[in-house]
Amino acid sequence: SRRRLVLGIETSCDDTGAAVVDEHGTIVGDALNSQTKTHIEFGGIIPPIARDLHQKHIESVVQLSLDRAGVTLQDLDAVAVTVKPGLALCLKVGLEHARMLVKKSRLPLIPIHHMEAHALTARMIERIDFPFLVLLASGGHCLLAVARNVSDFLLLGTSMDDSPGEAYDKTARQLKLKNLSACSGLSGGAAIELIAQSGNPKAFQFPQVMTQLPDCNFSFSGIKTAARKIIEMEEKRLNVPPSQVVPTAPDICASFQYAVLHHLARRLQRAFLFCELKGLLPKEKTLVVSGGVASNAYLRGGLQKVCEQNSCHLVCPPAQLCTDNGIMIAWNGMEKLLEGIGIAENPETVDLEAK
Ligand code: KG4
Ligand code: ZN
Repeated sequence: SRRRLVLGIETSCDDTGAAVVDEHGTIVGDALNSQTKTHIEFGGIIPPIARDLHQKHIESVVQLSLDRAGVTLQDLDAVAVTVKPGLALCLKVGLEHARMLVKKSRLPLIPIHHMEAHALTARMIERIDFPFLVLLASGGHCLLAVARNVSDFLLLGTSMDDSPGEAYDKTARQLKLKNLSACSGLSGGAAIELIAQSGNPKAFQFPQVMTQLPDCNFSFSGIKTAARKIIEMEEKRLNVPPSQVVPTAPDICASFQYAVLHHLARRLQRAFLFCELKGLLPKEKTLVVSGGVASNAYLRGGLQKVCEQNSCHLVCPPAQLCTDNGIMIAWNGMEKLLEGIGIAENPETVDLEAK
């Protein structure tokens, strides 16, 4: 039978992404415009600025993904687009573009949940049967869930306040890491990971998070605040001039990462316990770890140990697939198309469900 192709469009946050994938999970064409550099300049994502950048790039990014795939709209089987969760202003750009494309081509439109797409990306890479455990850690979210089906997720826990990415980005900003040439062009998270490599993770004490609460929820505001206080203290102690990076930054970064890992690891351990108790996972367990923060090799290494202790197979998609992209949206669309579920009856009435 003829090869099937789905175009995926992602504009939920600060990446304009588009990709074409086939039913085997082959990336046929991919294009991405990252706004990271602009947002670093502004010290964070400002939604109207992000929207304008999506608007500026959406057409060329989509066209580039089709060109790279060597196909036209007529060769596709469906268009998938992120409709939630995310910044409403940004989601709207992707949805309107997708609507325009399906109107022109009469292709089916498949609305996609951004977090579900993150969770299912790993199934492009290797065979992972349902149900499996998912840990997503990104700039927008932190959650643990059991993926029971393409469109059935049992949420075990989520962040009660900040996302881990926010904690990483705020701490990187507080440390002024972007003033280091080694960190130019890196996200806050990637910068901290790099600088932490030469630091001592036991140098600074961070508070233990939510140890009294026996659930799978997360909190990162305490770690973020502790990091801020440590940085202020160190800058004062070492008399650091403004715009300079405190010399103990490597130790601060390493200790910060240690605290984040500890929290993630404890929550994951609880999730294993809960799933065991409720019989939610098969004997051959799999954990998929994804999201921008999960592209961090140090965190992955630590989570690998928790998995080994629980006889669980850990799957981490390559970093390129962990951060936001059009590929995961296209693949989620393909999975839905193959199952015959989630296709919009009327593309005109598909709505955004912003968080
Ligand atoms: O998944 P993602 O690309 O976007 C969404 O939030 O959906 O995640 C972006 C976040 C940013 O906060 C960024 O600083 C963080 O992921 N990040 C990292 C690393 N690379 C990106 N955090 C920790 N370590 C990294 N290596
Ligand atoms: Zn994401």
